[in-house]
Amino acid sequence: MGNRVTVLHGVNLSALEHRPAEHYGSLTFTELEVRIARFGRELQLETSFFHSNHEGEFVEELHKAPDYSDGLLLNPGAWTHYSWAIRDALEIAGLPAIEVHLSNVQDREDFRRVSVLDGVVVGKVHGQGVEGYRTALEQLKAALA
Ligand code: DQA
Repeated sequence: MGNRVTVLHGVNLSALEHRPAEHYGSLTFTELEVRIARFGRELQLETSFFHSNHEGEFVEELHKAPDYSDGLLLNPGAWTHYSWAIRDALEIAGLPAIEVHLSNVQDREDFRRVSVLDGVVVGKVHGQGVEGYRTALEQLKAALA
């Protein structure tokens, strides 16, 4: 398979620098994407990026993703916990996908322990901050091999 990976960020991730540093670290969203692009280069993956705060736009991008991507790395933010529409769109995309979260979603409020993406992603990484994206890209690379 190919090495084109799309990194999709969802609701509120673009405001990363205004969110609690104890959960999300101190990078700006732009710095986060730059770091992920660097991880991608180190792993010989070709990365592209998409972000939206609008659920419908996120869904539409998932519909288009198979035209330009071989695998997905997804941090949908709070949509992770309740957006069945995004789950269905990911199923429609039909690409190997890894779910990633900066914070430790298993050790926060109860609602964050639930992910509607269970069963449609091939892996999950959480609680490792920005380094978790490297781990997720490694998992995706293995899934694409
Ligand atoms: C998040 C965790 C979600 O629970 C939260 O709603 C986010 C960010 C994370 O990266 O840790 O917006 O996905």
